[in-house]
Amino acid sequence: KRVVGMVGWRGMVGSVLMQRMQAEKDFAEVEPVFFSTSAAGGAGPTIDGKETGKLQDAGSIDALKKMDAIITCQGGDWTNEVYPKLRAAGWNGYWIDAASSLRMKDDAVIILDPVNDHVIRDAMAKGVKNYVGGNCTVSLMLMGLQGLFKAGLVEWLTSMTYQAASGAGAQNMREMLSQMAVASGSVKEQLADPASSILEIDRRVSEVIRSGDYPTKNFGVPLAGSLIPWIDKDLGNGQSKEEWKGEAETNKILGLTGDKVIPVEGLCVRISAMRCHSQAMTIKLTKDVPVGEIEGMLAAANPWAKVVPNERERSIRELTPADISGTLNVPVGRLRKLELEPTNKGRYLSAFTCGDQLLWGAAEPLRRMLRIVVG
Ligand code: HSE
Repeated sequence: KRVVGMVGWRGMVGSVLMQRMQAEKDFAEVEPVFFSTSAAGGAGPTIDGKETGKLQDAGSIDALKKMDAIITCQGGDWTNEVYPKLRAAGWNGYWIDAASSLRMKDDAVIILDPVNDHVIRDAMAKGVKNYVGGNCTVSLMLMGLQGLFKAGLVEWLTSMTYQAASGAGAQNMREMLSQMAVASGSVKEQLADPASSILEIDRRVSEVIRSGDYPTKNFGVPLAGSLIPWIDKDLGNGQSKEEWKGEAETNKILGLTGDKVIPVEGLCVRISAMRCHSQAMTIKLTKDVPVGEIEGMLAAANPWAKVVPNERERSIRELTPADISGTLNVPVGRLRKLELEPTNKGRYLSAFTCGDQLLWGAAEPLRRMLRIVVG
């Protein structure tokens, strides 16, 4: 059995990865070794009733060098610190990483195997050893729209996102809930009295959202009761880093370069969902294909993309973070031809999709990559 080093398995993404690996019995296929940046020497976790021994030091190149593969959810700083040293020490194992540090490097593949199994297998045959999870929004967009890409129907697309607090981190999720509590707590009495004035409630809530009482240490600004129309760094050209990733990562995942590159543009917004990212897309099709056929392609592309008929009742129930949180389903709906340019009739399509950013957006591609490695 291959010896697999697990790093960063206690954080939020790491914990989701551990749950999924246990649910899918992945640990039965490998010899896991658990590492820690802070508690080396302590007891490792018990997996399927089996103790895993002492935690190894995640700073020790000697200990890491013994692994056939390393899966890390420890984060970009650790990757930047440890990865170059490990390769410099001659290590030639598989590096499977959730962080973005190595994502765009030429010797790394962005993994999303239901979509780019061919790219992954080609790279493995060529001896590529670095496999990195994609940006959550991009991965979820591709899981939902794979059928269109596969059929070569996407000329370009825009994605307007509605991203959950989890994408910013565990502390941010807590902060968002604390904000909700402070907002509703500020009008507790008024809410209990059906005769109270809604404008008075609104005035108080707005006041508390803007006040120093609103917890904003992590987000810097209010999220609950508001939104944040910028995610990640400012690239200085009007674009956020999250928005930049749309085109860069989509094309890298699909293995498209040069004049094959599909333009992907958009605007990324944080909203107060817990862990599901949603996005509204406008897609310019390479040709006019009836919506019914498109629905068929989307549904057939992979087992997780679920077409939701473009009807009110189904949409408000099945195309939401509330419904799909904690599942691997990626519903795609609101499919409709947009009446934009009469000269391009039938070639503009709207779509809306939603997906759990901790699963397909983070942990799931990593464990599936490990399966591919252990064959
Ligand atoms: N950058 C994403 C977000 C999460 O902030 O929602 C990680 O892919």
